Amino acid sequence: MAEKFYITTPIYYPSDKLHIGHTYCTVATDTLARYKRLQGCDVMFLTGTDEHGQKIEDKAKEAGVSPKEFVDRIVEGPQGVKDLWKLMNISNDRFIRTTDDYHVRSIQRIFKKMYDNGDIYKGVYRGKYCKPCESFWTETQLVDGKCPDCGREVQDAEEEAYFFKLSKYADRIQDLLENTDFLEPRSRVNEMVNNFIKPGLEDLCVSRTSFSWGVPVDFDPGHVVYVWIDALSNYITALGYENDKYDDYDKGWWPGINIVGKEIVRFHSIIWPAMLMSLGEPLPKKVFGHGWLLLDGGKMSKSKGNVVDPYLLAQRFGVDALRFFLMRTFPFGSDGSFSNELLIQTINTDLANDLGNLVSRTVSMVEKYFGGALPADQKADPALDEELEALGSALRDKYEQAMEHYAPHKALEEVFKVIARANKYIDENAPWTLSKDMEANGSRLGRVMYNLLETIRLCAVLLTPFMPESCEKIFAQIGACEGCRTWESAQSWGRLSPTATVKRGENLFPRIDMDKELAELERIQEEAKKAALPDLEIEPYAEEKVDFDTFCKSDFRAVKVKACEAVKKSDKLLKFTLDDGTGTDRQILSGIHKFYEPEALVGKTLVAIVNLPPRKMMGQESQGMLLSAVHTEQGEEKLNLIIIDDSIPAGAKLC
Ligand code: ME8
Repeated sequence: MAEKFYITTPIYYPSDKLHIGHTYCTVATDTLARYKRLQGCDVMFLTGTDEHGQKIEDKAKEAGVSPKEFVDRIVEGPQGVKDLWKLMNISNDRFIRTTDDYHVRSIQRIFKKMYDNGDIYKGVYRGKYCKPCESFWTETQLVDGKCPDCGREVQDAEEEAYFFKLSKYADRIQDLLENTDFLEPRSRVNEMVNNFIKPGLEDLCVSRTSFSWGVPVDFDPGHVVYVWIDALSNYITALGYENDKYDDYDKGWWPGINIVGKEIVRFHSIIWPAMLMSLGEPLPKKVFGHGWLLLDGGKMSKSKGNVVDPYLLAQRFGVDALRFFLMRTFPFGSDGSFSNELLIQTINTDLANDLGNLVSRTVSMVEKYFGGALPADQKADPALDEELEALGSALRDKYEQAMEHYAPHKALEEVFKVIARANKYIDENAPWTLSKDMEANGSRLGRVMYNLLETIRLCAVLLTPFMPESCEKIFAQIGACEGCRTWESAQSWGRLSPTATVKRGENLFPRIDMDKELAELERIQEEAKKAALPDLEIEPYAEEKVDFDTFCKSDFRAVKVKACEAVKKSDKLLKFTLDDGTGTDRQILSGIHKFYEPEALVGKTLVAIVNLPPRKMMGQESQGMLLSAVHTEQGEEKLNLIIIDDSIPAGAKLC
């Protein structure tokens, strides 16, 4: 029977649209799942959404809908989570939503089980809470008084709550982390042990009463289960743990492998195993904490406004190219900096130049020299062929080594070494010269072409988990039969039929004009940023009251513009010469050149406050201030001078 392999992504917060960082994590897990399927394992791949918690409740309120309506829109709606995974060709077998009835019931049972066995008890919570991260912190864990994960402000929190005896499991967890390979990369172990376990693991607050959007504690109304207890359990409830929806939990699917981002390693390597210990259930086989995709040096996050839209990238470059870029460029366990330039460069170098060219040149040559079908009579030349054949034969093992160590980028590195070698092999064998005398060299040319097709086949088998659709197309172009697309067939050289028939197809990875594309992307991204800004923003109203007498001290007058000009050496200032009804001209300077050309204002009747003390700007005196209305439209500051009816005489007092 095939080996069972269960792998999961984190379940995503549907508080906003997902970005390329989330896509990275899911594409990586999908690639690993597809790799295991290719190997012949029976794979269960789970992803989903983590839909409870105060943040979602608040966001729904802001949007004026119920929390369920809010999450439904982001999970199921157009360009929502499910849409994105479909677009990215994510092959998950199951999708769990923590609002699913069966999951909610399981959480209630899990909570009760831990309460009944004495690991959950009632107490009073006093401490700090980070709302965006849904995390409780003690004073000592804060960094500069702020959340150690996201650096944002935390709030004081005090309420009756249930606690999980996390402290009880401290020694076992430390042993698990230090003496097994439960958590990878190993670099994350020290961080967990030194920052969280050694300072003393405190019991964890696992219920809240100050909001209601969560799984209710069924034996104590008013309490909802802490969102991380709810979320972490998804990995087993989705298999049927404590519910009747599925019956896979007892069928050997658990334990599985949890792939998570580095900031949630703490939850997965400390709280999660402690929960399972409390429940008496097996621990995950592994927790792998991958790095972040950074943008401008920081983690992408919607609240910082520095996110990259995977829909846009997939639409412009193709899903497979985007999947490939994510896996090829960033070592899985470390952080990496995303840029459009790097994306285009990777596509051009690896996909267009190296792989794309190898496929299209080879297929075109087989068509040109042999009408598409290789001759049965082929002549090997060990001196010229040996190195390529040896590299091709050894590739699967090297690739497997890397994939088994969660290093997809290294696996790709190995594949691309072979692709580069094959391109060199074309130049070494100069098929265009051999083709000049087909009678003498036809059989040698046949073998050269076969070797190239065989190299392409081997590489395409191993690239399938990364670029499933493109590899199908490559197989079709090189005439690879079903049997030579398998994992087993990639073990050895020579599985492609010697008389394979090729068929030229579309250019798989067209070269991208870097400058043009960068400019276009920038334009689209700027437009999208603008569109995402609120249409109209007005200044917040002043909290402080002003008393009537103070207000009445301000002397507002109608003034007529006699002359207006830009102040020399200033980008902003306009100098107004005004008739204020006194018979003496009044001069006012105003920083509004960005909004008005001076000539356009001559003759207008404006409003000025005239009893401000005079002040100097750019060496010139300003005797008052002109009134204007300000607001923001799609992020752009707008200003309108208060222009009043011309029939109002200069000097008229406004009150
Ligand atoms: O953490 N680069 O959900 P989430 C790489 N609901 N990975 C990134 C990333 C980036 N820029 N931004 C986000 C949660 N991620 C919880 C999980 S699991 C029981 C509950 C990754 O939507 C992040 O590291 O905030 C995390 O692994 C995943 O996206 C989901 O993040």
